[in-house]
Amino acid sequence: MRTLLFFLFITTLFFYTYSLPIAIPQDLTTASDNIDFIRTSCNATLYPDLCYTSLAGYANAIQQDPGRLARAAISVSLKKAHHMAEYVSNLTRDADYGSDPRAASALHDCFSNFGDAVDEIRGSLKQMRQAVSPGSESFRFQMSNVQTWMSAALTDEETCTDGFEDVADSQMKSDVCDRSEEVKKATSNALALVNSYAEKGVQ
Ligand SMILES: *[C@@H]1O[C@H](CO)[C@@H](O)[C@H](O)[C@H]1NC(C)=O
Ligand SMILES: *[C@@H]1O[C@H](CO)[C@@H](O)[C@H](O)[C@H]1NC(C)=O
Repeated sequence: MRTLLFFLFITTLFFYTYSLPIAIPQDLTTASDNIDFIRTSCNATLYPDLCYTSLAGYANAIQQDPGRLARAAISVSLKKAHHMAEYVSNLTRDADYGSDPRAASALHDCFSNFGDAVDEIRGSLKQMRQAVSPGSESFRFQMSNVQTWMSAALTDEETCTDGFEDVADSQMKSDVCDRSEEVKKATSNALALVNSYAEKGVQ
């Protein structure tokens, strides 16, 4: 049944694609162009697959606008950093870690690192929302602020993991470091897309 449906789908697709090119709805091709744009742009990041899967859902809102793409990537990284701060904050309230002062201290610092990262990413997003014309002097100033803040956020996120170096291995430690790594990837990708946008400017 599935095979039959698939066959029908392919035949229909073939029919529409080759027999009636005029009948292809305009927004279908645009939608696939929008998706291609994300795939190609994500190629400039360190974690292209993660970049693509986290942004493909916004393809129609992004359209093929590198500024919107960078903004969406910053939003994704903000959401993740915020979630991480909440996760770490929950852990600091867990009585189990109170008995290990090193772990408690690393957790506390990590919470403050992610708190700072959230502020910096939020600041970047605010800056990105200001409408300035690409290529202008204020565009360069805006982009340089965003680049500075996103880099600072990435450093803060790294600092969290570094703080756990001297902490004895535990489930908590590996959970925090693994989750931290995922947030760092999202922030790194957002920074890379900001850098591409800043370079290309008008495009
Ligand atoms: C991504 O980059 C690689 C090498 O830099 C290239 O071979 C590949 O075609 C690119 N893919 C897309 C979708 O742009
Ligand atoms: C933090 O704890 C609250 C209350 O227990 C819970 O609702 C929330 O989902 C937790 N957040 C995270 C990110 O674990």
